[in-house]
Amino acid sequence: MMEIKVDVPSGQYSILLEQGLMQRAGELIKNITGIDTAVIITDDIVDKLYSTTVECSLELADIKFIKYIFPHGESSKNSNVYISILNFLAENHITRSDAVIALGGGVVGDMAGFVSATYLRGIHLVQIPTTLLAAVDSSVGGKTAIDLDSGKNLAGAFYQPDLVICDYTALNSLPDHVFSDGCAEIIKYGMICDYDLFDSLNIPIKQHIESVISRCVEIKRDIVAKDEKDKSLRQLLNFGHTIGHGIEKCSNYNIPHGTAVAIGMAMITKSAVSLGFCDSLCYDKLCSMLKNYTLPIETEYSGQQLIEGILSDKKRSGEYITLVLPKSIGKCFLHKTPINEISKYLDSAY
Ligand SMILES: NC(=O)c1ccc[n+]([C@@H]2O[C@H](COP(=O)([O-])OP(=O)(O)OC[C@H]3O[C@@H](n4cnc5c(N)ncnc54)[C@H](O)[C@@H]3O)[C@@H](O)[C@H]2O)c1
Repeated sequence: MMEIKVDVPSGQYSILLEQGLMQRAGELIKNITGIDTAVIITDDIVDKLYSTTVECSLELADIKFIKYIFPHGESSKNSNVYISILNFLAENHITRSDAVIALGGGVVGDMAGFVSATYLRGIHLVQIPTTLLAAVDSSVGGKTAIDLDSGKNLAGAFYQPDLVICDYTALNSLPDHVFSDGCAEIIKYGMICDYDLFDSLNIPIKQHIESVISRCVEIKRDIVAKDEKDKSLRQLLNFGHTIGHGIEKCSNYNIPHGTAVAIGMAMITKSAVSLGFCDSLCYDKLCSMLKNYTLPIETEYSGQQLIEGILSDKKRSGEYITLVLPKSIGKCFLHKTPINEISKYLDSAY
C-alpha cells in the first residue's frame, strides 16, 4: 500500500492508495478515527456499485452505519440536498465522534465535505474517491463546497479529511467520458508545473495509472502544504478553471467540470499565445494532448456569454481576477488582471 502524507497548517492526514483498498475501509477508518458510527454519503450510481463493499468492511470493523443517497450529477450539489443531509444527520443523532464517509466522485466529495465541515461545526471526514478526477484532485486538499444559483462552489469551507482511501479498482467501472474528465485535471498538473508528467501522458494514462495518480496527488499535496487557503500558489491549480466555470454555468452544468476545464485550458493558452506570453508550440502540444484523451478544445458559447459566469467566479477579488497563464509546458504563472481587461483575454481566446 502506498501512503502519501499531507501536512497542512490545519492538520495532517494520509492518502492511502492500492488496488482493492475499499474492502479494508472499515479497518483503516477505525484505526485512524476510532469511530463507532459512520454516515455514508453517496450518489445513486456509486451506491449500486460500491456501497456493499464499504458496508461489509464497516461491519467487519464493528462500525455501525447509516446512508444518504442523492441523485448523481452536478445538479445535486445544491443547498436543498445539503440541508436535507444535515437534517438526516441530526435526526439520526450523529455526533462529533462519528464520521462522514464520502463515497463517490467530486460531487459527492464536495457535498459530503461541506456537510462534515459545518454539521456541529465539524465532524470526522473520510474521502473514498471513485472517479479519476476525485482521486487526483477533489479528494485532496480540503476544498469543500456547494453551488448557488449565482455560480459554482460559492458556499464552502476549507476542511481537511481525516483520511483518503483511493482504491484504483473503482476506476475500472468509469464510463469513458467520466474517465476523460479526470484526464483533463491530470493534463492540468503537467501544464502548471511538471513537464515530465505532461510528456509521460503520451503513453495512455490507463497503462501507468498508479504512478500518474500518485504523482498528481504529490503535486497537489506540495502546493496545498504551502498555501492551504488559496491565497497565492494554490491558485495555479485553477489553470483553465476561470473560463471553465463560465462554460459550466452557461451550459447549466450539463457540460462536466473536467470537460469545461479542458476547453478553458485550451482557450486561455490560445489567448496567452496571441498576447505574447507563450509560443504557439505550447498551444499545439496542449491541444494535441487534450484531443488524445477525447477532450474538446473549443466552446459554442461566445465571450459575451461566458463573461457573466467568469465575473461571479470566486477567484475574483474586488476589481481584479487572477488568471493562470502558461509560459511553456510545465510552467504557468499567476496574472492579476483588472476586470475591465478580461474581455481582451476572452477576445483573443477564439
Ligand atoms: N474540491 C476540489 O478541490 C475539487 C477539485 C476539482 C473538482 N471538484 C468538483 O468535482 C466535481 C466533479 O467531479 P467528478 O468529475 O468526479 O463528477 P461526479 O462526482 O459527478 O461523477 C461523475 C459521474 O460518474 C459517476 N461515478 C462515480 N464513480 C463511478 C465509478 N467508479 N464507476 C462508474 N460511475 C461512477 C457518478 O455517479 C457521476 O454520474 C465538480 O463539482 C467540481 O467542482 C472539486
